Amino acid sequence: MHYYNNCYDIPNDPFVNVSLQQITPYSINSVKIINRLVFPITYNEQFYRDIIFKYNINLSRLAVVNNKPVGNICCRIEPSSNHPIVVDNVNEEILYIMTIAVLQQFRRHSIGTLLLNYIINFCKLNTQIKTILLHAQITNKAAISLYIKNGFEIVNIIRGYYKNVDCPDAYLLQKKI
Ligand SMILES: CC(C)(COP(=O)(O)OP(=O)(O)OC[C@H]1O[C@@H](n2cnc3c(N)ncnc32)[C@H](O)[C@@H]1OP(=O)(O)O)[C@@H](O)C(=O)NCCC(=O)NCCS
Repeated sequence: MHYYNNCYDIPNDPFVNVSLQQITPYSINSVKIINRLVFPITYNEQFYRDIIFKYNINLSRLAVVNNKPVGNICCRIEPSSNHPIVVDNVNEEILYIMTIAVLQQFRRHSIGTLLLNYIINFCKLNTQIKTILLHAQITNKAAISLYIKNGFEIVNIIRGYYKNVDCPDAYLLQKKI
């Protein structure tokens, strides 16, 4: 697979061939590369092994444009006891979004929306999950705007949530489905 970088131009119409694909042992490296380019923090090898071997394969997707990986969403199911602040029912499971990322030069073409809606619809159609949660740096205007536009609300602020980054404070965002 080839990777877009700054030497390449974005295709005129990136929607033509955008597809969401299962993340496999063959494509997990694409997820790693995208995340390294996009996030200020580094995820360890166990994080990537868990995506392909531990969590439901349908809770993660790689966004591919013209055969080139440009984004991903990776989620896991957690017990609600991990998030007592927002979840009342102790027996409830929640969907936690670990990463959502689109390469810089492919942003603002609705690929983030596509990834987010994939996971919302997957939960609606295939699970009993009623709550989706995630953390976002409070300075991350793009992400927060994407979430709010798609029905998430800010339910908590957690000071010092992130380590070794410029802004360590996080919002906890929730969507009820
Ligand atoms: C957040 C991210 C995934 C959005 O991906 P994207 O493909 O650009 O998102 P979309 O094109 O679907 O944007 C949907 C909406 O989000 C909002 N949005 C996206 N980028 C924005 C920006 N830079 N500034 C303000 N609002 C923005 C807009 O409301 C946008 O709708 P519009 O284009 O009709 O105005 C992308 O910016 C990214 O990868 N950021 C770095 C990684 C990251 O921070 N992930 C989230 C961790 S919590």
